[in-house]
Formats: sequence, C-alpha cells, structure tokens
Amino acid sequence: MRPTAARERGPAWRVETIHETASTNDLVLERARKGEAGGLVVRAISQTRGRGRRGRAWFSPPGGGLYFSALLRPARRTEVPQAITLLLGVAVAEGIEEAAGRRVGLKWPNDLRIGKRKIGGILCECAALPGEPPAVAAGVGVNLAADKADFPPALRESASSLLLAGGRVPDAARLLRVLLARIASRLEEYEAEGFAPARKRWLRLCDHLGESVSVRLPDKKMNGTARGVDEAGRLLLETADGAVERLDSGEVEGA
Ligand code: BTN
Repeated sequence: MRPTAARERGPAWRVETIHETASTNDLVLERARKGEAGGLVVRAISQTRGRGRRGRAWFSPPGGGLYFSALLRPARRTEVPQAITLLLGVAVAEGIEEAAGRRVGLKWPNDLRIGKRKIGGILCECAALPGEPPAVAAGVGVNLAADKADFPPALRESASSLLLAGGRVPDAARLLRVLLARIASRLEEYEAEGFAPARKRWLRLCDHLGESVSVRLPDKKMNGTARGVDEAGRLLLETADGAVERLDSGEVEGA
C-alpha cells in the first residue's frame, strides 16, 4: 500500500548542513543541553565517528548516504524514546518510498531494510536536564549510492543501499526534505493521538512478523516468534512454551 502524501506541518525545521563532523547526534545533544529549541536539524556530508546502536560504527563516507539528526522535544513524556524510535522508522520508510519508489521494511527496533538487507537505521538518544522535558536527538542514516565494495568487509553481506537495491537514488537534499515532512506528520499525529497510529503503520511495514527470530538482549539471547509490538513499542516475542514476552531493549537478529 502506498503511503498517503505527507502534510507540511509540525515542527518548523531549521536545517544546518556541515561538511564533516564526528557524529551529528553529538552536535544535536550538545545544542540540546545548551537549551536549543526543538526543530534543529544537523545534516553532515560525512561523519568521522558516525555511530549506530550498541556502540557500532555507522559507515558515513561523503556521497554515500544521508546522515542527519533532528532535535525533538516531544510534549508527551511517556513512551520516549522507544516509541519515538519506531515512529521515526515509519516516517523514514514512508519517505524513502515516496522519494525512491521502493518499499522499505522495518526490523525491530530501528532497522530500515530492502529485501532484508539494511539500507538505513535510526538512533534516538536522550539529553535530559533535571526538571526539563526530555530532548531527543533522533539520528537517521540512509545508504544512498554506496556500492558493495564501498562497505567495510564485515558489512558487505548484510548492508545495502538504494543504488544496490535498484531503486531511484534521490538527491540527498531532496530526500531530507521529504523525510522531514514525513517526520513532522508522524510527530503531529503522535502528539494528538499517542503512539497507536504509528504502531499500526509500523506493524504494516514490519518485515519479520510471524517469523522465528532471535533477539539479542543486553545479557543474553532469546528465541521465539515475533508477534508484534505493544502500545509502548516493546517487541512481543512468543517463546517455545507459548508465553509472550514484552521486550523493551535489545534487537532482532536472524530474521
Ligand atoms: C543503527 O542502525 O544502529 C542506527 C544508525 C544511525 C546512524 C545515524 S547517521 C546520523 C546520526 N549520527 C550518528 O552518529 N548516528 C546517526
């Protein structure tokens, strides 16, 4: 199903583009701690220490992809940041489909995939000052024109890009505009109605529902069948004995 057209509402984005930085999430977190209002977006042409979840490096060469972080100050305090991570995934998947004409699947909690190969990811990090509402640095990385040989050897089998997936490769600045419009729409919906609408969209886009998966948790691995996500974005994992666990950390592997 094609997503509906994005509405141009929500935060008034203030986009700053820089040539190179260590990580756009770091820049946005630093500005958040200094009191910057929500709506700041920092895009980098390349990152020297781009990072993903669990301390992994995010491959960020110039010309290879779109790398940006948006400063969000959601008025709703609950369900942050897990719900925001899933909501961002939905917005970015919808935006890539709009700009590149390819359907993107979501893997819990933060992977964007085409044909089960990762083409992008979301990294939400919180800067909380005592007594202030949480600020979220929502980092988005999308592999655009990277070729197989451009990826580090360890990523060549699991990573992909819009170029490799055979989609239209949109201009990064245009893709950023489309993604920001989608993010604004999803955030507006979230502030008005909570996480339920994004959850429905996420379930339609998830590419491993009903499949046997293994989930890497901070201290162990769990196997089971992915049954969905709950009202707070936790993964519902049905284990061999029929029990359904609600997982709020970790990530799906082997799906
Ligand atoms: C993941 O899949 O583990 C998340 C990847 C997030 C990468 C983006 S690129 C822009 C922003 N800056 C970072 O250092 N990381 C995020």
